[in-house]
Amino acid sequence: MLSKLLSWVPILVALFLILHHGWAARCEKNIPIVQQIQVGFGKPPKFMVVVQNSCPMCPAIDVHLKCAEFPQSLVDPRVFSVVGYDDCVVDGGLPLAPLQKISFNYTHDRFSMSLKSWSFQCE
Ligand SMILES: *[C@@H]1O[C@H](CO)[C@@H](O)[C@H](O)[C@H]1NC(C)=O
Repeated sequence: MLSKLLSWVPILVALFLILHHGWAARCEKNIPIVQQIQVGFGKPPKFMVVVQNSCPMCPAIDVHLKCAEFPQSLVDPRVFSVVGYDDCVVDGGLPLAPLQKISFNYTHDRFSMSLKSWSFQCE
């Protein structure tokens, strides 16, 4: 009887750790991925930007990129909107589902793009 109860201990400890750390901890190493790939080689060149929520557990919201002086006229603001200098927001800040990718293209000399900020929405 006691040994049967004891066999539950590791499971309860594991459950406690998961609940205690919350789901955010599970996403710590899965920061959103930003890739920029040249897909057109004319003048000007064309680039494809891909942003992926690489966390398999939680939606990522309010994903902002550093985007230098990217002009809004190059892309639909619903997909990528310029908030200020070096601050652009992906998909209007709406949640990207776990592992969801968003991509858009622009035709211009390359703008440097990198992750600026985001939140995981785990609750
Ligand atoms: C971006 O360009 C690539 C290569 O031309 C194309 O495969 C892709 O569908 C384009 N994406 C969008 C969102 O238009």
